[in-house]
Amino acid sequence: MKAVVIGASGIIGSAVARAFEEAGHEVLRASRRGEVQVDIADSASIRAMYDTLGTVDAVVCCAGEGTFAKLGDLSDEQIQFTLSSKLMGQVNLVREGMDRLADGGVFVLTSGMFSYNPIPGVPALAMANGGIESFGRGAALDLPRGLRIGTICPPFITETAEKMGMSTSGTLSAADNAEYYLRFVEGDDTGVVVYSGR
Ligand SMILES: NC(=O)c1ccc[n+]([C@@H]2O[C@H](COP(=O)([O-])OP(=O)(O)OC[C@H]3O[C@@H](n4cnc5c(N)ncnc54)[C@H](OP(=O)(O)O)[C@@H]3O)[C@@H](O)[C@H]2O)c1
Repeated sequence: MKAVVIGASGIIGSAVARAFEEAGHEVLRASRRGEVQVDIADSASIRAMYDTLGTVDAVVCCAGEGTFAKLGDLSDEQIQFTLSSKLMGQVNLVREGMDRLADGGVFVLTSGMFSYNPIPGVPALAMANGGIESFGRGAALDLPRGLRIGTICPPFITETAEKMGMSTSGTLSAADNAEYYLRFVEGDDTGVVVYSGR
């Protein structure tokens, strides 16, 4: 399978790219500064990426940014930034890619634990994560040619906790998280949210 992993230089995406390669899949690594360049917050950039890649079997998105800020401090710009990158970036990867993926191809999106277990200061990210998960459930019903879609909802990742100097208790390693992406892509489910580590 030929897969493009977007966010492949990140903590989650680099482990996903590695797991896919170890399983024998061809991996194209994409990000704003990657070997394949794309900014998912910009639809023209997404179209240019698909033009460069040609037909692929899997689009795996492990990218998308959002703002950490308490509800009363959130600006319009911060909300828009979160929606444009984390939510609409992934939605537009599917909209722009649905006529370009190989028959039976698969989209994998990434949400995160704030959709079901928020902490103070994450309402924008919680909204985006919930939106991604609901979009995937709905989009699955409309995708043509046997295309599938699923959302992986990772918990707090061990390497991220370490990088932030936080406790790693209850976290999931990036490598173990990546196995959920691989299992979904190699399976036959669609329209699901996969809670990795649960
Ligand atoms: N780490 C966690 O604990 C955790 C838990 C749950 C959910 N998540 C979610 O999982 C995703 C990845 O997290 P991570 O921790 O792996 O992040 P990360 O280490 O900061 O890596 C982010 C990756 O995405 C790329 N990227 C960022 N914005 C982009 C854009 N607009 N267009 C294209 N590529 C972009 C980055 O590369 P460039 O800078 O070159 O673009 C990088 O490759 C995020 O959406 C995050 O919210 C993370």
